[in-house]
Amino acid sequence: MTRVVYVNGRYLPYARAGVHVEDRGFQFADAIYEVCEVLGGQLVDETRHMERLERSLGELRIARPMSRRALGFVLREVIRRNRVQTGLVYLQVTRGAAPRDFPFPKGETQPTVVCLARRVDAAKREARAAAGIAVTTAPDIRWGRCDIKTVMLLPAVLAKEAAAGEGAQEAWLVDSQGFVTEGASSNAWIIDASGTIVTRPTGNAILPGVTRRTLLDALSRENIPLTERPFTVDEATRAREAFITSASGTVMPVVRINGVVIGDGYPGRLTLRLRSIFHQVAELCR
Ligand code: PDD
Repeated sequence: MTRVVYVNGRYLPYARAGVHVEDRGFQFADAIYEVCEVLGGQLVDETRHMERLERSLGELRIARPMSRRALGFVLREVIRRNRVQTGLVYLQVTRGAAPRDFPFPKGETQPTVVCLARRVDAAKREARAAAGIAVTTAPDIRWGRCDIKTVMLLPAVLAKEAAAGEGAQEAWLVDSQGFVTEGASSNAWIIDASGTIVTRPTGNAILPGVTRRTLLDALSRENIPLTERPFTVDEATRAREAFITSASGTVMPVVRINGVVIGDGYPGRLTLRLRSIFHQVAELCR
């Protein structure tokens, strides 16, 4: 089946979809994006993803391309046309195309909107969760506004590539004081010896993950103790359990950090419980 991509008002075959060569997303990474999980053909946590998208646009002063309702329609249409039941939908908004110049273009530039949906092999993802993943660490060389979900992802690409070279599936980024900020494309969590869940507080150093936010709701619902504070790599390697969260993996157990085995080397019990209850707490939107 041909994959269908939404580009600026049109649904195009994958091979024919494209944007202008002077798109500012291409030249300057002057663009933001969202990735939403699709489960049973439904959008997971759409409201929070839309709120974050609007915040990212506002922080970069990119004009809102269309109403939230219209964007919701595009997301659903792309999911429907690609017949995605289990997978992801990707939405990118750039400042638009203009002759290359660093300051924002003068006058009305139409933002570029691209949306595509992709199936994910659920069995493969479950197998990965059952085994747990390995992470490596890398210095966090990103900019000072990691709270904005921009497509400026080269540091994440390099960290993930290095992690893959070590046989790991994610890289945890480490700040100049030795504290883990977050994963290259996920938020980072540990569970300490007392059973308290630890994750870094939001701020400019990390992306405020939608999965993170929803998991915090799950923790308070279940009365599971939580501390929002930074943790070091050393503390993480001594943790009882570790995991990451993202729209693409929900709650994914971590069983090795830089080759050091976490706990007994198997996904932690509490981590698996959080994974199993996540979709009971998340918003599912048809
Ligand atoms: N990444 N931190 C970073 C740097 C991320 O790129 C992501 C998501 C997260 C988790 O956010 P959320 O729970 O809202 O997915 C944290 C997406 C999945 C990606 O780039 O593919």
